[in-house]
Amino acid sequence: MTAVQHGKDGVDAFLTNVATDLDSGVLPIRAFSDPELHQLELERVFAKSWVYVGHVTEIPHPGDYVLRYVGKDQFILARDENGEINLLFNSCMHRATAVCHAEKGNSSHFRCPYHGWIYKNNGDWNGAPHRVNAYPRTMDPKQWGLRKAPHLDTYQGLIFVNLDPDAITLKEYLGDMAWYLDVTFGLNSSGMRVVGDPQRWIAGANWKSGAENFGGDAYHVPHLHRSGEETGVFPRIDAALSGQFHIAVDGGHSIVASRGFLPEPWVLGGWPPEVAAIFELDKLSPDQREFVENGWCATVFTIFPNLSIIHAPGVYDAQSTPPVLMTALRQWQPFAHDRTEIWNWPMEWIDAPAEFNRLSYDTAINSFGPAGMFEQDDTVAWEGPADVGTSVFARQTMKLNYQLGQGTPGGFGLVEDWKFPGVATKTSYDEYNQLRFWKHWQKVVSGQ
Ligand code: FES
Ligand SMILES: [Fe+2]
Repeated sequence: MTAVQHGKDGVDAFLTNVATDLDSGVLPIRAFSDPELHQLELERVFAKSWVYVGHVTEIPHPGDYVLRYVGKDQFILARDENGEINLLFNSCMHRATAVCHAEKGNSSHFRCPYHGWIYKNNGDWNGAPHRVNAYPRTMDPKQWGLRKAPHLDTYQGLIFVNLDPDAITLKEYLGDMAWYLDVTFGLNSSGMRVVGDPQRWIAGANWKSGAENFGGDAYHVPHLHRSGEETGVFPRIDAALSGQFHIAVDGGHSIVASRGFLPEPWVLGGWPPEVAAIFELDKLSPDQREFVENGWCATVFTIFPNLSIIHAPGVYDAQSTPPVLMTALRQWQPFAHDRTEIWNWPMEWIDAPAEFNRLSYDTAINSFGPAGMFEQDDTVAWEGPADVGTSVFARQTMKLNYQLGQGTPGGFGLVEDWKFPGVATKTSYDEYNQLRFWKHWQKVVSGQ
């Protein structure tokens, strides 16, 4: 048994040991549930990474806004009168009262409910009640404006922010993951849009359970989600393991990939011809085009730290509807070490036939919505490490096994001649991506 050490020295020692443990393919349970580590994550992961905050189609017009989170902090994601997007800290510069209490809307200004300070939708201070007696004419609108994220950028319609003034660019941060976002969202110049507001629900889980699962856990699908096959929602569920493999990308990003989900008459791996007809593959690079034309697909992936994307087939009604590809964005909001709010945005191609979009949306809700069959399976499983991670006995005795496929003939191994970005494994009988995710996490949380 090893005594559990607390405080800065205890956490530092723990993180040093985690690096060694990961080299041996094990991970101490404490990594999944610890208030001290969670606070460090807020400081070193969420305040320094490029974090997803929304999709451009959620705020298409000047004045549109939605409330969003970076870590636990609430912000207003607003498009100002000039069409620029800003991420404004939702906290008044007078006494820190929230200035915006609506989840979404359209407004040129935000008025604080406490004493009535007013801010423009670009964050600038714009006056206060009893202005002449209350404040001098020289009051600086920028100095007393809402605090603003220093960096905001978009890629393929996804809006990311970075709260670190010294951050690298979004393009550098995404690295090779940008290539895979192109082959997912860049098939048509109108692109995809989110369908409605993000659906939300709370799981008694740590945020990293969702992030690591979507980044590489093909192994659980035929087992945890077996009822999906039994009910006809996911025919041939074993294929989710046997037909897939993993791609790891530098920066802690990771992908579960597939080739050719659905046979003819579907094309390009799983699209009905009327949807494939809207694709403009000539806009892709030659290697991206080869990837798509061969039916390769980034099925489920995680962009470090807490954005995941699912792009997978399902069946809405096994008796009456055909298989269909559905796409959704998924965010793991880290509200506490043992509480994650899951946000889910189903998506559709703007130019695709309405009938396909409707079926794709229904399928997304049926499987990964708040009451989706897959969703309920996953969240129950993920409550295990969040709960057990606080146990003194478990911390003293439990290191979790991350050795799937290692030492087996048909299991773990890298594709030597993988011609696309990142590193690919031969099968999905491995936890290569999860190990890479955790190694990156260990570096970032350690402040390296
Ligand atoms: S707290 Fe906002 S105006 Fe006083
Ligand atoms: Fe799952």
